[in-house]
Amino acid sequence: MIIGVPKEIKNNENRVALTPAGVAEFKKNGHLVYVQKGAGENSGLSDEEYTAAGAEIVPTIEAVYDIAEMIIKVKEPIASEYPLIKKDQLLFTYFHFASCEPLTHAMIEQKAVCLAYETVEKSDRSLPLLVPMSEVAGRMAIQEGAKYLEKPMKGKGILLGGVPGVPPAKVLVLGGGIVGTQAAKMAAGFGARVVIMDVSLPRLRHLADIMPANVTTVMSNHYNIREAIAEADLIVGAVLIPGAKAPHLITRDMLKLMHPGTVVVDVAVDQGGCIETCTPTTHENPTFIIDDIVHYCVANMPGAVPYTSTLALTNATLPYALQLANKGWKKACAENEELKKGLNVANGKVVYEGVAQAWGLPFENVDSVLQN
Ligand SMILES: NC(=O)c1ccc[n+]([C@@H]2O[C@H](COP(=O)([O-])OP(=O)(O)OC[C@H]3O[C@@H](n4cnc5c(N)ncnc54)[C@H](O)[C@@H]3O)[C@@H](O)[C@H]2O)c1
Repeated sequence: MIIGVPKEIKNNENRVALTPAGVAEFKKNGHLVYVQKGAGENSGLSDEEYTAAGAEIVPTIEAVYDIAEMIIKVKEPIASEYPLIKKDQLLFTYFHFASCEPLTHAMIEQKAVCLAYETVEKSDRSLPLLVPMSEVAGRMAIQEGAKYLEKPMKGKGILLGGVPGVPPAKVLVLGGGIVGTQAAKMAAGFGARVVIMDVSLPRLRHLADIMPANVTTVMSNHYNIREAIAEADLIVGAVLIPGAKAPHLITRDMLKLMHPGTVVVDVAVDQGGCIETCTPTTHENPTFIIDDIVHYCVANMPGAVPYTSTLALTNATLPYALQLANKGWKKACAENEELKKGLNVANGKVVYEGVAQAWGLPFENVDSVLQN
């Protein structure tokens, strides 16, 4: 198959969908890979490295779309890319169709085959192509939190790990899923005193088993949260209720219970945030202050560490991309339920129920598309 890797053009997107190591895998399997000039440069990957791995470098985004049977990307195509997409071209990328109606209509009109990273789903309902970004964001939450606890950043002026003779900071993590687990581990590694809360008792049992001694597990409820925020120096919001907005576990009136200079890093801000006063910010302007509390609410945290994020993402996407290239999308999806769940649009039809519902479009059963 002919694979194309365009340079990402969405604002502030520095990742790339395929590394030179990935190119080598495709080549080993007998495929051709065309990479747009400079596609990897913001992730620290040069054209020379791609060429050495066996890719052909092409000068423009048009050339990539023109030649490729399968386009591998990171972000959804933006409007200027819509007309470049050809009938029956396979696109494997994050789409988030339910949050962009024009994109949905454009992919239907172009008759593209759209396999969305975010809906590839394992039998245990986990989302393997979202996990790596949650891992990055969870770990980064502590790095950023530690920075904003510094006085010049308007924080309390407390060192996360303390020093001999001075107690370490207290970190509260709300939500013990992927983000929360990684955040708690990092905070514990710094030597902080960590409390991690979740509503799931089995999850808390698991966390209690695997976490180091400076992490305490606590049931998440209003009473316990009120007590914990009064003590915490750094609070990480990492709650997710699938398909719903995050619950506001810390409401505006609760900010007064916290000490001035406390830092909140609301990773869940992309789902509305679990702290009521959080609204999305950017890497250019990541924080704001309300009632002396420093709010960090960047909605695309992994974007700041494109090198790590690119490698983490491609580690997860490559095995699926290889199946698509080796078998063709119909056979690959028919033989792999996880990939099949990733199909959102094919042959001008919406084949993912949530997307059809979101925009009131007719829904076509995915199996009927695979059989044609
Ligand atoms: N800002 C970013 O750049 C970025 C990057 C990656 C992920 N995220 C977001 O981070 C959030 C967390 O993602 P995840 O992968 O860890 O999800 P996850 O499903 O692995 O974990 C969510 C956890 O929240 C728990 N939970 C639900 N209700 C709760 C409550 N009331 N109190 C405490 N815990 C509760 C669940 O039991 C679960 O363990 C999501 O909103 C995700 O979109 C943001």
